[in-house]
Amino acid sequence: FDQRFIRNFSIIAHIDHGKSTLADQLLLKSGAITQREFREQILDDLDVERERGITVKARAVAIRYTLDGQEYEINLIDTPGHVDFHYEVSRSLAACEGALLVVDAFQGVQAQTVANAYAAIGCDLEIIPVLNKIDLPVTRIPEVMEEIESVVGLDTSNALKVSAKAGIGIEDVFKAIVERIPAPKGKPDDPLRALVFDSKYDHYRGVITYIRVKEGTISKGQKIYFMKAGTAHEILEIGQFRPHMLPCEELGPGQVGYIVTGIKVLGNVHVGDTVCDYLRRPAAPLPGYEIPQQMVFCGMYPIDASDFEHLREELARMSLNDASFSFAADTSEALGFGFRCGFLGMLHMEIIQQRLEKEANVDLIQTAPNVTYQILKTNGEEVFIDNPQEVPDAGSITEFREPIAKVAFILPSDKIGAVMQMCADRRGVFVTTEFLGPQRAQLVWELPLAEIVFDMYDKLKSITQGYGTMNYEIIGYRAADLVKMDILVKGERVDALSTIVHRTSAERRGRALCKRLKEEISRHQFEIPIQAALGARIIARETISAVRKDVTAKCYGGDISRKRKLLEKQKEGKKRMKQFGSVEIPQKAFLSVLDTG
Ligand code: GTP
Repeated sequence: FDQRFIRNFSIIAHIDHGKSTLADQLLLKSGAITQREFREQILDDLDVERERGITVKARAVAIRYTLDGQEYEINLIDTPGHVDFHYEVSRSLAACEGALLVVDAFQGVQAQTVANAYAAIGCDLEIIPVLNKIDLPVTRIPEVMEEIESVVGLDTSNALKVSAKAGIGIEDVFKAIVERIPAPKGKPDDPLRALVFDSKYDHYRGVITYIRVKEGTISKGQKIYFMKAGTAHEILEIGQFRPHMLPCEELGPGQVGYIVTGIKVLGNVHVGDTVCDYLRRPAAPLPGYEIPQQMVFCGMYPIDASDFEHLREELARMSLNDASFSFAADTSEALGFGFRCGFLGMLHMEIIQQRLEKEANVDLIQTAPNVTYQILKTNGEEVFIDNPQEVPDAGSITEFREPIAKVAFILPSDKIGAVMQMCADRRGVFVTTEFLGPQRAQLVWELPLAEIVFDMYDKLKSITQGYGTMNYEIIGYRAADLVKMDILVKGERVDALSTIVHRTSAERRGRALCKRLKEEISRHQFEIPIQAALGARIIARETISAVRKDVTAKCYGGDISRKRKLLEKQKEGKKRMKQFGSVEIPQKAFLSVLDTG
């Protein structure tokens, strides 16, 4: 295909501003899908995504579109909108020359609008502002344009105004893509360099690698080399998504498509890697390559020990489909044999968990998630800890460090005080406030990741009545006065209940946790003391008295976070208990930690 007539773009937006609807509408108008297929969100083909209404994995579709008698190949590269998948967003953007920045004409600029727009600016993309949902009875078009200008710094004099749902203004979108987004550069005869921007596992064909050719030509049968991974393969099939897989003979500079090489393990194909010819290697790979870091860990244990092997198989299957999820066998004195699992963030964890429940049919006990810590030991050694049980003795720790994130909030101005208070309570460091207009402001704080991941999003939503949004990025590790807090049940330490807390909040959290456990663990024939301890020092205690007569199940109020609700949704009826010594501890107890922040 003549590269002068190729356009590669991405759609970026805050969640729910209409990215998927616009993508579908573009496919519909170009004839790539039928009216019947429209709004079935064919770009999000994972079940979980559809259920949750969020786009998780990047996708690429080649659209043919004719304008003024000239046929164009327009490649739409879909990006995940959530912060957990930040690295996938940046790789997808690196495969494009332009981006449509979709902003809801009523809601205006939100936290992920800003984060995604900055990512696109960082990739030097031509950004076309698109105001969506102009069919809504109430819009704030002039104000939203001003917000885009002031926060993102884009000229909105030629912003498009569309309704993705009603199909209004879609021709203008195609026109803008063709006229404003530059054609790709790169010569067909140069040594091949193609960017890997996504991959997926196919049961029959093995790994399908999504590529964008930057220079040179890639063809069927060619022997290729993954420059970062250092592996060689032959191309068995090459093609494009239109939107279904359509094989072809070759792809030239600027083209986007897939290759099948017979690789069986997803972990062997790395997003961000460069594909080149095996014999004719370029001087350097394409820029930007990192292994996305797992920031959240939790333990998963089968209730029934005989399910261990089955659980291992299911986890292996999950990791086959998702290279950024990891698991390793682990044992807990309290819970027996199980696995320690690593995720990019909380959303990623929820997605995997949901899929496990749905597809695997194993009853699990999941421990409260924790972030990764870094410890400088007295012997000079630096270690990363992703399990509270691995924290060394206080005496051998010189410095205990935790991950810090820079968090940007966008919220109604009258909620600034409440959000400031929330951040201060969570050991935040204030950075800036900026007004986006008379009624809205952007706040930036630096906060410990541990204080964000569990429930800050829910808290923000409740403080701002749903109007606040947030986005965060990890900026590094910082020393803090952290300690490991243990929980003793009937005098014995339950390792799976240990957590890492800040010393100043240890007592409060210890008391809260003991209280919660008292509510979760039902009464037995004997008295059960529950204690929280820092090392040998007991800092809190509750006692569950022995059963006398009829006990009615305890009910409790209080706010239940989104996470807990999800976890509790797990198949009812089955008893999730773990016998610990003579005490039965229910699954819910292991997550109590989440409620005591
Ligand atoms: P994520 O996949 O969660 O990132 O969301 P998205 O940005 O892809 O949003 P999606 O396309 O799923 O749209 C979100 C909601 O807005 C859906 O309920 C759509 O029906 C609705 N919506 C999208 N475009 C329009 C529009 O032009 N007008 C109106 N009224 N509603 C729209």
